[in-house]
Amino acid sequence: MKRLGILTAGGDSPGLNAAIRGIGKSALALGDMQLIGFRDGFKGLIENRFMRLDYETLSSILTRGGTILGTSRDKPHKMPVGNELLDMTDVICENYRSHKLDALICIGGGGTQKNAYRLAQKGLNVITLPKTIDNDVAMTDITFGFHTAMEIATEVIDRLHSTAHSHHRIIVVEIMGHNAGWLALGSGVAGGADVILIPEIPYDLKSVANAIRLRKQRGTHFSIVAVAEGALSLDDHVIFTGLRKKKALAKEAGDSKAQKKASEGLKEFARQRHTNSLRLSEELERMTGLESRLTVLGHYQRGGTPSAADRILATRLGSACVDYIMQGETGVMVAVDGEGTKAVPLEEVVGIKKLVPLDHPWVRAARTVGTCLGD
Ligand code: F6P
Repeated sequence: MKRLGILTAGGDSPGLNAAIRGIGKSALALGDMQLIGFRDGFKGLIENRFMRLDYETLSSILTRGGTILGTSRDKPHKMPVGNELLDMTDVICENYRSHKLDALICIGGGGTQKNAYRLAQKGLNVITLPKTIDNDVAMTDITFGFHTAMEIATEVIDRLHSTAHSHHRIIVVEIMGHNAGWLALGSGVAGGADVILIPEIPYDLKSVANAIRLRKQRGTHFSIVAVAEGALSLDDHVIFTGLRKKKALAKEAGDSKAQKKASEGLKEFARQRHTNSLRLSEELERMTGLESRLTVLGHYQRGGTPSAADRILATRLGSACVDYIMQGETGVMVAVDGEGTKAVPLEEVVGIKKLVPLDHPWVRAARTVGTCLGD
């Protein structure tokens, strides 16, 4: 009898329940497996809050958004307890052993891969699945959740066209993605946005305004600007990369005070995202003479039922995960490799963000059809 634990951590994304079901049904079909799901990410594993996963709990969840287990962004080594952040890794190890687990499956994005790796280093049999709407996990072709979010953002861009056209306006639409541009680029290309701004390509406001003015001169008095939440103007990019360098140098030098200061600066950048998009919209109005409005998609992109593509992806990753466990693979992420999967050692995944390469076919296609990318 094998005993498996599952948890979902980080921001939720469509397809999580499909993955839980894929793992659960594949494991139960083998006949000698027991499954428990820990609630609210690593927090539930620390607090020993769990639910048994059987055919009944796994039934009818394939199409549901969110996660039946709940999730949180808590990190095992930095758990908020009172006013302090405590390392609760040992408590996790204790609970893992008291449940007599043979493996712990952690489903999440970049942060979850890091946390899982830390547990693997403590000797736990950990295996992970890559999920995030941002599609920024390294060593996997794609993450589940991304496809659904891209569909949602594309539909919004489609709908914004008619109102922008009717009012002869610019509409700036802010799309999630953290510091990666996959979502804005994918939905921008699919939705035919006139301008696409992504973090990987710092933008020059003058180039963006020129592109919109050119459309106006040609008789098109509206424009859709798809801006990734992490996109930065040339000036802000200099400050942002400077802070990143400072943080890395401070870490290397063991200067925790300087490291904290740089981290605070970077967090402030994240807090300013909506303000930056609003400023972009206002500046474009001023520079082009066209009225401009801002639409922030926010968490709408993460909610609701997963697309067929994400259901298939999550199901096949879930069932492959059980195969890898049966083969004794641990300390790995089940990565997407074309139509198949591969087990990638966690140390090759952690600490790396998969950003949009500047020569990516989507970037080239966008440029070829005349989309302004802000440079
Ligand atoms: O990582 C997924 C994501 O949706 C990002 O695109 C976004 O920046 C972030 O999570 C939002 O996080 P939260 O739900 O904690 O506000």
